[in-house]
Amino acid sequence: GPTDPRISVIGTGYLGTTHAVCMAELGFEVVGVDVDAERVRRLAAGEVPFFEPGLEALLRKHLEAGRLSFTGSPAAAVDQADVHFVCVGTPQRPDSGAADVRHVDAAVSGLVTAGLGPGDLVVGKSTVPAGTASRLAARLAAAAPGAELAWNPEFLREGIAVDDTLHPDRIVLGVAPGGTAEARLRAVYARMTDAGTPVIVTDYATAELVKVAANAFLATKISFVNAMAEVCDATGADVAELAAALGHDPRIGPRFLRAGIGFGGGCLPKDIRAFQARARELGVGPALGFLAEVDAVNMRARDRAVALAHEVLGGQPANRAVGVLGAAFKPNSDDIRDSPALDVAVALRRAGCHVSVYDPAAAANAQDRHPDLHVAGSVMGAVTGAELLLVLTEWPEFRELDPALIRPHVTRPVVLDGRGALDARRWQEAGWAYHALGRPARGPLVPRERPPSGGDLHEGTGLDLVNEA
Ligand code: UDX
Repeated sequence: GPTDPRISVIGTGYLGTTHAVCMAELGFEVVGVDVDAERVRRLAAGEVPFFEPGLEALLRKHLEAGRLSFTGSPAAAVDQADVHFVCVGTPQRPDSGAADVRHVDAAVSGLVTAGLGPGDLVVGKSTVPAGTASRLAARLAAAAPGAELAWNPEFLREGIAVDDTLHPDRIVLGVAPGGTAEARLRAVYARMTDAGTPVIVTDYATAELVKVAANAFLATKISFVNAMAEVCDATGADVAELAAALGHDPRIGPRFLRAGIGFGGGCLPKDIRAFQARARELGVGPALGFLAEVDAVNMRARDRAVALAHEVLGGQPANRAVGVLGAAFKPNSDDIRDSPALDVAVALRRAGCHVSVYDPAAAANAQDRHPDLHVAGSVMGAVTGAELLLVLTEWPEFRELDPALIRPHVTRPVVLDGRGALDARRWQEAGWAYHALGRPARGPLVPRERPPSGGDLHEGTGLDLVNEA
């Protein structure tokens, strides 16, 4: 309606593009702003410059409806909108690991220069060090009197970003007392709150911290189970069964307990490092000292996968044919930033293996980043002739692979499941040796030779475990 908030989104990267499109999906008029002219051109032409299921169709729908536009000019944001979401990146600084907030500062400067003033609400969504919002609020008070600031962190996951944005678990609003920000943001998010999404209204610093604390917790949960995998390897226990048993305790819960080669991507690794750097600046470094261990366990998981591959190859990796399924840091994504899968593939390549990698979405990115890596065009392309097969990203099409179907194409049926994604028994029954971090090696199950007379303890299955590994 005529009193609906008019929305601008500054920064059209992963977060900004998704947010802009989803705000249009809620029925609002939205203008997306980016300093990258090529990106603006592609988005305006209906093209999403990264892989995210469902996003491009929605982008086109709202471009055609005239609800959504893209521009290079912050002035257009101030002219056409009154609620301005800041969705720019906060990359890791190479020196300290701290978050680099210069794009956030530049986005706010752009709005101020364009004439931001009374009636304007700036809403930070970027992941920032605690204290950024109050610094920006002071700046607005001085340079754009009457404009307000709120902090509204975003928890979307790649691969399911549209659904996460339209159906969030919670909405966190960091606001200054006495302003209009809460009421205006409740109007933006009315459809979600009407559907029961909880809203937490709090101060700036708490809102900023919710985001980094959530990511630190998730990273800790993954590293916890990967630490247990190390202990399992030392004791002969099975981390998949351990995790399943732990997950039945509702205080623990089953999610984010999948052991494997660990977390990667553009958020978790960077966020836990930036969080530690900020804690040190605030004089509470020891409070987050454990995150250094979380990071170390995570990086060690990649090394342990490489070491296991060497072991399975009898300590002689040179010139061995290795098929790798997966390059993206997670399924349903073409993102290879800090990808554990690609790290492992590259390490094996460096050790002298002939590595052939296939990924349904990230193949082109992997090839760009590592021109010397052989990138195959299909599962069969990567698998054919392999002496060892590694599954390093848990794409559904890899989980569902029929091990019997690909077995004739490999030189040796040996699989290393880097994501705990495969049905170990099914692979065994199809004649594969199965290896995974934190799990006992399992040789193929082969038909048992019948003893000459009676005494078959395994009657009924006709199978027996032959541990070749
Ligand atoms: C994460 C947070 O989940 C999201 O809330 C935040 O907004 C951004 O960071 P994302 O980076 O998209 O999202 O990926 P996520 O699904 O959280 O996975 C992160 C990594 O952890 C992936 O590499 C994944 O493979 C790995 N992972 C996840 C595990 O190794 N084990 C698990 O049990 C779960």
